[in-house]
Amino acid sequence: MQNLIDISALDKQEISKLLKLATQFKTDQNNFIHDDIYPDKTVGSLFFEPSTRTKLSFQVATKNLGARFIDIHYSETSLQKGESIEDTIEAISLMGIDVLIIRHQDEVLKDLAIQFPNIKFINAGEGTSSHPTQALTDYMTMSEFSTNPDNLDISIVGDLDHSIVAASFIALLKIVGFKRLRLAGLPELCKNYQNNNFEYFDNLNEALRDSELIMALRIQNERLNKELSIKHTEYISRYQITLDSLRFANKDFLLFHPGPVNWGIELEKTIANIKNCKITNQVINGVAIRMAILSNIFSS
Ligand code: CP
Repeated sequence: MQNLIDISALDKQEISKLLKLATQFKTDQNNFIHDDIYPDKTVGSLFFEPSTRTKLSFQVATKNLGARFIDIHYSETSLQKGESIEDTIEAISLMGIDVLIIRHQDEVLKDLAIQFPNIKFINAGEGTSSHPTQALTDYMTMSEFSTNPDNLDISIVGDLDHSIVAASFIALLKIVGFKRLRLAGLPELCKNYQNNNFEYFDNLNEALRDSELIMALRIQNERLNKELSIKHTEYISRYQITLDSLRFANKDFLLFHPGPVNWGIELEKTIANIKNCKITNQVINGVAIRMAILSNIFSS
């Protein structure tokens, strides 16, 4: 793998190989193998938007593989003095960085990868369109807790239009397979999904009925403009996933949320403690899958 920019660039076999490798990097105690296999590799991260899980898991993954990690703080770069992103990346590429992990509010990665073929790029969340490493993390978690991860009845609930996770997760499901996919959320937050290509519901219970995997998505308050400001009380009453609404789901349902969670908005707080809730496993698998992605890119 040269770059990881778009999940659709991977086929099912490549995704399976990444999952197998990620599983090998995990120990039975939900910890990670430490092996200094890539001491000559250097990874940089350049995040134009905040992140906890993605950035730190890449940092831990890099160190677990014995490579160097350089966190390039956006606010301390000459981008702040008006330098272009192209000139910034050119400077970075001249300093011996092998892989650059970028999170950006716009879709910039495809163009950068064409302009700078000597550096490998990983998409750590781009625009409102893609977050391929999160999709792989979620698929690894599905595969860990389901005997049939490629044939699940899946519901995605929340702010689909502004989520950086939704589109990549749906693209991954189209590659690996699914039984049924239902989408739900305030109609004004799901405009891109109310067409014949998708099964959209404005009623939460209908979207959850018999569902085997429920993916809740964060309300991306920072991306909503004034016209789209959401009344949290309305959201909670119509779309908050509660113990009560989960009675409609399959009895063995899995509950995911890519994080960060607005507890008390998308999810009732008590849900964190039920055995079906796999949010902590998603975080743990984030390190393993990113070790697999880095390892694959280092060795290609
Ligand atoms: N899931 C996710 O991308 O979380 P962060 O924003 O904390 O990286």
